[in-house]
Amino acid sequence: MEPDWSALESAARAALPRAYAPYSRFPVAAAILFADGRLLAAVNVENAAYPLGLCAERAGVAAGVAGGHGAVRAVLVLTGADEPTPPCGGCRQVLAEHGAPEVPVRSVTLGGRVTEHRLGELLPDAFGPRALGRRG
Ligand code: THU
Repeated sequence: MEPDWSALESAARAALPRAYAPYSRFPVAAAILFADGRLLAAVNVENAAYPLGLCAERAGVAAGVAGGHGAVRAVLVLTGADEPTPPCGGCRQVLAEHGAPEVPVRSVTLGGRVTEHRLGELLPDAFGPRALGRRG
């Protein structure tokens, strides 16, 4: 079933001002729909110790796991950039751990530009739990 993209975008727009990005000045919000129907929004959270900064998508996955909301079913990434920004490589790996290859990942700008990919397109032939002999 097609996710309610407008609900995901509204959640991301509400969260974006709460992004903590004083170093990059590149706020990101991610809205994630989970298998139990819960929609969570998260933001990037940077740190003065730069490598400790957390991407919005990973923060959202962590919140979903903590809440027991099940697998990732849809992802929307919102920025104020000129072009839509798909998730970084690290976030693709983390999303692939918790979402199926067909999960849609939509990237949206505040100006209304949109791109959409499937998780399996963003990270083909992913390393995952199966490589470790787990069901995943
Ligand atoms: N960022 C995200 O939150 N998600 C991505 O997929 C790409 C990058 C954040 C990390 C950092 O806080 C800022 O954007 C600039 O890289």
